[in-house]
Amino acid sequence: MNKQSKVAIFGGTGMLGSSIFRQLKKSGYENVISPSRKEGFDLLKKDAVDKFFKNELPEKVFMVAGLVGGILANNSRQADFLYQNSLMILNVLEALKNYSPGTKLLYTGSTCIYPKENPQPINEKRFMHGPLEETNIGYAVAKGMGIVACQLYRKQYGINAIEAMPTNLYGPNDNYDLQNSHFIAAMIQKFVNAQRNGNELVFWGSGKPRREALYVDDCADACIFLMENYDKPEIVNIGTGFDHSIKEYIEITEKVFNFDKEIKWDTSKPDGMYEKRTDISYLKSLMPGYGPRPFEDGLKQVLKIDFGVEV
Ligand SMILES: NC(=O)c1ccc[n+]([C@@H]2O[C@H](COP(=O)([O-])OP(=O)(O)OC[C@H]3O[C@@H](n4cnc5c(N)ncnc54)[C@H](OP(=O)(O)O)[C@@H]3O)[C@@H](O)[C@H]2O)c1
Repeated sequence: MNKQSKVAIFGGTGMLGSSIFRQLKKSGYENVISPSRKEGFDLLKKDAVDKFFKNELPEKVFMVAGLVGGILANNSRQADFLYQNSLMILNVLEALKNYSPGTKLLYTGSTCIYPKENPQPINEKRFMHGPLEETNIGYAVAKGMGIVACQLYRKQYGINAIEAMPTNLYGPNDNYDLQNSHFIAAMIQKFVNAQRNGNELVFWGSGKPRREALYVDDCADACIFLMENYDKPEIVNIGTGFDHSIKEYIEITEKVFNFDKEIKWDTSKPDGMYEKRTDISYLKSLMPGYGPRPFEDGLKQVLKIDFGVEV
């Protein structure tokens, strides 16, 4: 991809979008634009999206905007997650088709698109091969529809849309609202509160389920690589290649914080799926240098950047 070409990021104020912006700038891209909702660029409004493509004709677009949340938000606002995430990608694809068909699009789905029961690690071929987890079915159906939509606009209209499936992300600019956040952000915020205000540390479940956590800059690098080098309709997982139990994440964080107070477990709360690991062999075959950083390293970066804590 030419370093002077016009590249747009939709969702540039968010965790992944802001990371893609940083990483593109770091690698010398000079013409990166990131229209925001504050400036009137609302992806739910067809007119605003049409106008953007008519006026800007970007060469590449990272479509990483979305309504995103943790299990609580996902479960209680299923219809909102379905409607908004569906409409946003459909507005983008229609505008591309009508006004800027030469634009290449990278769309981020999520590993939530996979069925709730899977052989581990989860291969891309598992998409649409079983019932989904009920607690985020609105989000998962919208994301799955987005993938199929990208594939169909490619087939019928020749739009060069590619689809990346990131695993759980964490990193600078994450959402730390305890009602809305994902596990790693919530865990970090709870440790910060316990350290600063002496709050009791309580975690849900048994701590046994195993999860991946990918540092957002490593995901952004993979997205940029795919934008530069990949042109196929098949979806690509962006996972870690390693996982930890919830308890292990907490132990690593305790060590980094040098935390020595008691940690309580509310075992009346559900554990969720025991294991959810993505198969990254396809991504590794395309990008042999892909190797996400260990959790401890990413955690130290987040503490420094988002909380001003040097460890
Ligand atoms: N976070 C994860 O663990 C994770 C895991 C897998 C996949 N993903 C996917 O990766 C992408 C990025 O996630 P993220 O964690 O970076 O999300 P995020 O931090 O919540 O950011 C979401 C972005 O989308 C924008 N947005 C939402 N609704 C919009 C609208 N109607 N019009 C224009 N912009 C809108 C937000 O803009 P405002 O600032 O205006 O709200 C924000 O910039 C999403 O597609 C998500 O589904 C995330």
